[in-house]
Amino acid sequence: MIGLKVYEMNPVTFSVIGLGSRGLGAYAPYATAHPDQMRIVAVADLVPARRQKAAAQFGLDPGAVFGSAEELLARPRLSDAIIIATQDRTHVTYALKALELGYDILLEKPVSPDKDECLRLLEAAKGSGSTVAVCHVLRYTPFYRTIKELVDRGAIGRLMNIDAVEGVGYFHMAHSFVRGNWRREDLTSPMLLQKSCHDMDILRFIVGHPCESVSSTGTLSFFKEEMAPEGAAGRCLAPCPVKDGCPFDCEKIYLTNESTGALHHPGTWPSDTVSDDTSPQAIRQALEDGPYGCCVFHCDNDVVDHQVCTLNFAGGINATFTMTGFSKENHRTIRLFGTEGELYGDTMDANLHLKRFDSDEELIPIAPTHSGHGGGDEQIMTDFIKALRGQGSLPSTLDASIESHLICFACEESRHSGGALKPVWG
Ligand SMILES: NC(=O)c1ccc[n+]([C@@H]2O[C@H](COP(=O)([O-])OP(=O)(O)OC[C@H]3O[C@@H](n4cnc5c(N)ncnc54)[C@H](O)[C@@H]3O)[C@@H](O)[C@H]2O)c1
Repeated sequence: MIGLKVYEMNPVTFSVIGLGSRGLGAYAPYATAHPDQMRIVAVADLVPARRQKAAAQFGLDPGAVFGSAEELLARPRLSDAIIIATQDRTHVTYALKALELGYDILLEKPVSPDKDECLRLLEAAKGSGSTVAVCHVLRYTPFYRTIKELVDRGAIGRLMNIDAVEGVGYFHMAHSFVRGNWRREDLTSPMLLQKSCHDMDILRFIVGHPCESVSSTGTLSFFKEEMAPEGAAGRCLAPCPVKDGCPFDCEKIYLTNESTGALHHPGTWPSDTVSDDTSPQAIRQALEDGPYGCCVFHCDNDVVDHQVCTLNFAGGINATFTMTGFSKENHRTIRLFGTEGELYGDTMDANLHLKRFDSDEELIPIAPTHSGHGGGDEQIMTDFIKALRGQGSLPSTLDASIESHLICFACEESRHSGGALKPVWG
C-alpha cells in the first residue's frame, strides 16, 4: 500500500476502472499527452479486448490489469487516484470502497440514480481526507467559464432569468437513449439525470444561489412502436420500405453519414461503441445482430425524448431548461437576461453575444478547444491533478454536484406527478 502521497513533482498515479468511451476514450489519453502529470498504473474492465488495449497503451504488467473493478478494489491502494467510469448504477459502490482504501476519486456522473446513495457518498466523503470530483465537465469549459465571469462582473446587470436548451442531436438520441446503454431508466438513469445533470449543475453554478423549487414535464412521444411508419422493419439491415428517407437508419448513422459514419470518421464515436473492432465490416456485422441495428421504433427504450424544467432559485431568479432529442446537432444554447442587458451563447459558435441596453452588440470570443465536451474532458484532468498537487482548487465540490442531482430528482418527481411544483430540499 502506498503511504503518504507526494504529488508535487511526480506524476500523479491513477487506476482506471471502466475502460469504455469515458475511462479509456476521454480521460486516459491525458496520461499520454502529459506524462509529467499523470501515470496510469492499474486498470480494470470486464472486456478482455479493452484491458489488452489499455495494457499495451500504458505499458502495464499483467499484475496491474484486472478483470473487474471488484478485483482491483480488493487490493490495497494501487495508486494515488482512481477514475471510476463504469455504468451509472455502480458508481457509489466503487466510490465508497475507494474512499475506504484512501484513493482520491474522479467519479463519472451521474453519481447515482438513487438519492439516498448520493447522500451516503457525500457523508462518507466528508472528513475522509480524499478529494472526490464528479465529472461535470461543462464547468471546465471556456464557454461556461466565460459566461460565469461575465455574469459575476455584472456585464448584464443583475441576473433575472435564464433560458437554456440542450439539443441532444437526433443521432445521439437514437444511439444512446433509444438503442444504447441509457435507453432505460431501470438499467441506468432517467434521461434528465443522465444527460442533463450537467445543465442543472451549470445553471446552479452561473446563478450562484441555491435552487429552491422546480417543476417539470416530459414524455417519450416519438421513439415508440405506435409511431413506426407503416411497414417499417424491426431491424435496419432487413429489407425496409422506409429506409431511404429514415435519418435514424443505422447504416447511415454508423457507416455512411458524412458527420457520424465510420466510413468518414473511422474509429470514432459513435461507431466505436457498436464494435470494439472498428473496421466497417465488423461494424456492419454488429449492426446485423446487435442492439444498434434495431429500428428506433422497435426498441425496449423508456426514457423521455423531450423534457422541460422550470427552476426557481433563491433571490427571485428563475430558469427554464429544455432537453430535446430533436435537434440536428448535439449542442447547447443559453440566453441570460439581466437588468442591464442580455447574453446569448451557442456551444457551436466561436463567440458569445453580449447585448447591453446602452450599447451595440459585442462579440465575446471563446477560447478554441480540441478535447471533448468543449474542452471540458481535458481541463477537468488538468484541474483535478492541480488540486491534488495543492496548486489550485476544483471548480466544483462533491456537495455542489450532489446539489445538482437533487435538482434532477425533484424535477423527476414533478414530471411523474404531472408537473407539480416540488421542493429541491427535503
Ligand atoms: N461526463 C460526461 O460527460 C459523460 C459522458 C458520457 C457518459 N458518462 C458516464 O460515464 C460512465 C461510463 O460511460 P461510457 O460511455 O464510458 O460507457 P461504456 O459502456 O463505454 O464504458 C463502461 C465500461 O465499464 C466496464 N465495466 C462494467 N462493469 C464493470 C466492472 N464491474 N468492472 C470493471 N469494468 C466494468 C464496461 O465493460 C465498459 O468498458 C457512465 O456512468 C456514463 O453515464 C459521462
